[in-house]
Amino acid sequence: MQMDATVISFADNNSIASHIANQLNAIYTIAKIHEFPDGESCVRIDPSKIRDTVFVLNSLYHPDQLVLPLLFLAGTLRDYKAKKIVLIAPYLAYMRQDKRFNEGEGISARYFARLISEYFDGLVTVDPHLHRIKSLDEIYTIPSHAIHAAPVVADWIYNNIKQPLLIGPDSESEQWVKYLAQMAQSPYVVLEKIRHGDNKVEVSLPQVQKWLKHTPVLFDDIISTGRTMIETIKHLKQTDLAAPVCIGVHGIFSGNAYQELVAAGASKVVTANTIEHHSNEINIAIPIVQAINQLKF
Ligand code: R5P
Repeated sequence: MQMDATVISFADNNSIASHIANQLNAIYTIAKIHEFPDGESCVRIDPSKIRDTVFVLNSLYHPDQLVLPLLFLAGTLRDYKAKKIVLIAPYLAYMRQDKRFNEGEGISARYFARLISEYFDGLVTVDPHLHRIKSLDEIYTIPSHAIHAAPVVADWIYNNIKQPLLIGPDSESEQWVKYLAQMAQSPYVVLEKIRHGDNKVEVSLPQVQKWLKHTPVLFDDIISTGRTMIETIKHLKQTDLAAPVCIGVHGIFSGNAYQELVAAGASKVVTANTIEHHSNEINIAIPIVQAINQLKF
């Protein structure tokens, strides 16, 4: 049955977007961005494809260039009589600046949430980085829904790794690692991390003597500079464990992070397709479709 809705994305997010539209049996269309010589942009849609409910599907990776066109898109859709505009952002940006880390800084998570809440009627995302902010409702004033990637990550581990030992690089990762270990019926350890700066991270030495025959699987929600995982790998090298498989839900891979992770000794790097990358082996489209089907926005 055709869902009376539109899924729209900008061209660079279109493989997961078209797949989701297909699964929903909804209309799929691409919004175009025209950049003027002065650096300003104009968003154009095909009005004949717009239904009352519109899902705008865009991962908010490198958000600063993307967000203005995204807001213009929401405005344009509203002008063309879309009644409900739901942002599906498989990766939700600006969740990590959730407090004033240094005097004089702003709390971007809050400002960003205010902006998105003004233009959209609902938000669906995958594992937003909830740390000091415990729920999206604390900062978003629109209804929101956070999908957990853990079940599809657990399936991937189950189907691909024999005898895993789950390793979380810091206390924030314990929630996921504990669940994944339960699903895989495997042991887990969680290390301690101290971040000294964007590119400087210190991680405690893991106690793993009991599990030397297992395959270490490092898991984190985000791989950005890769420093957290690289430091963990350095420590694992001081044990007799095999080279680890590194799994991240959101593979941001700033700079050469992916190459550096491989050079540091990861046997494999795997991510979910919340951000398009050749390491995407975990498909998040099905849980997104299930969540959309249950939305009561
Ligand atoms: C931190 O709070 C997150 O859970 C990740 O550990 C962090 O974003 C990883 O960043 P990076 O790859 O830059 O060490």
